[in-house]
Amino acid sequence: MEKLNHILEAQQFIRPWLEQKLFPLTKEAKKIAERGGSTDLSGKRMVTFFYEPSTRTRASFEIAMDLLGGKVVFSTENARQFSSVAKGETIEDTIRILSNYRPDVIVLRSDREGMAKRAAEFSSVPIINAGDGTGQHPTQALLDIYTIQKELGRIDGISIAMVGDLNRGRTVRSLCYILGKFLNIKIYFISPEILRVKDDIKEYLREHNISFAESRDIREVAQMVDVVYQTRVQKERDDIALNYERTKGFYIINQEVLDLMKKEAIVLHPLPRVEEISPEVDKDKRAAYFRQAENGLYVRMALLKMVLAG
Ligand code: NCD
Repeated sequence: MEKLNHILEAQQFIRPWLEQKLFPLTKEAKKIAERGGSTDLSGKRMVTFFYEPSTRTRASFEIAMDLLGGKVVFSTENARQFSSVAKGETIEDTIRILSNYRPDVIVLRSDREGMAKRAAEFSSVPIINAGDGTGQHPTQALLDIYTIQKELGRIDGISIAMVGDLNRGRTVRSLCYILGKFLNIKIYFISPEILRVKDDIKEYLREHNISFAESRDIREVAQMVDVVYQTRVQKERDDIALNYERTKGFYIINQEVLDLMKKEAIVLHPLPRVEEISPEVDKDKRAAYFRQAENGLYVRMALLKMVLAG
């Protein structure tokens, strides 16, 4: 198996790798999970070092490692409080030390953009970026694109509405980078003025011939899209979202929006959701966000196999 080193940003992957390596390995990973696991990664060790809260990302990485017979040897989800980071240790020193303890991989979530790349420079073992502040969340984008392929049977030619906090939401940023690898994609960015997608993304999409438009109300585009990718306002980042409260109705997925959507479209969300998808949506078969989260386990099993192979 071809070995994968660091996973730092979504644009590092090429389309044939996605289609010929990641997707088949992910399907196989599901079968491994269904039969209760394997010993493929026995003897391999993983550190999960998180500076920010997480449920899905950390749990799915750790359970993925366990299902493949490997070990999680050190894990924190509040590094700022429960590690020497609290004493002022830098990420550079932290990663230098952790990697010298000879794990086979470090899964890192940091609260600052660019930290995963920085960590990779100081690490003697592969780093997997599990989210770096308002930067990227590449493994989320991989499970998102896998879910789109699985649910719709295609990626080329789709129209997608990305809704919510497009400014600080790292999952949207990484997904745009992945979509840039495909053909005839149309993106509708739906957000309040203050939470618009940043220029680096727009520039990348232009370079990759992905057409996009910006607007303010999901109801204007709901009938045209194959995917609604809803996101949470990143309130913990700062308070620029306060004004957003007034226009919230434009960005909520509820029965009214479902009624406008195509019968075979899907609703995705990286989760956690707060109130941007009404609970009434959950029972509609187009609500694919829980299936998407489950796919995260299989995608991460596939990734661990590729990083730790050989
Ligand atoms: C996302 C994240 O951490 O960026 N969560 C996740 O990993 N699925 C989305 C979010 O927190 O809003």
